[in-house]
Amino acid sequence: MQSPVPILVAPSLLAADFARAGEELRAVAAAGADWLHLDIMDGHFVPNISFGPPVIAKLKPHCALPFDVHLMIAPVDAYIPAFAEAGADRISIHPEAGPHLHRSLQLIRAVGCAPGVVLNPATPIEMVLPVLDMCDTVMMMTVNPGFGGQPFLDSQLPRIAAMRAAIRASGRAVRLQVDGGITPATAPLVIAAGADVLVAGTAIFAAPDYAAAIAGLRSLPA
Ligand code: DX5
Ligand code: ZN
Repeated sequence: MQSPVPILVAPSLLAADFARAGEELRAVAAAGADWLHLDIMDGHFVPNISFGPPVIAKLKPHCALPFDVHLMIAPVDAYIPAFAEAGADRISIHPEAGPHLHRSLQLIRAVGCAPGVVLNPATPIEMVLPVLDMCDTVMMMTVNPGFGGQPFLDSQLPRIAAMRAAIRASGRAVRLQVDGGITPATAPLVIAAGADVLVAGTAIFAAPDYAAAIAGLRSLPA
């Protein structure tokens, strides 16, 4: 089955060699990546710490790909302008990261970025439906957020299909993104369920050939 929309691949910088970050970004861009996924963790919303706006600002000149910023921080609103200023093109947030999801999405749009909502494996799909008209993307976590290299949660496949049905019913061209444990084995499953943006860290940056890894995720079995 061929997907009706092109499948986009967003390498997650979390799995890259940070000591050679600029080189890694140029390599995935040359290898055919569509977006660059940047995971921001605060050691509070998720049990890990990554990096913040100053690092993004330093990375920006190395890469013309859209910067897809996944904020795993709480509270989130106070930091949204700083991420936009640093070079974010798209910003996705978790409903649990603040008390006013609608207001946070308005803020992301107001600072010139494409807004997205991220659903954890146990977050009901209904959390995003009242604000679906404000979203450019919905991202379904296929692992618990916080770490790269975790195994894919099969339990998320019916939820991805349900989210795709809700997007279709909305009549809006919302991208359905998946994040966590995406490999050549799991990519066809999420694509069949309705995903059209694949975030992948380990499956790309731990591969010997980034172009082959990206192409392998995008392609469906004949
Ligand atoms: C997890 C992050 C993911 C992570 C994916 O909290 O949101 O983007 O980097 O890593 P892999 O592809 O290795 O599961
Ligand atoms: Zn992520």
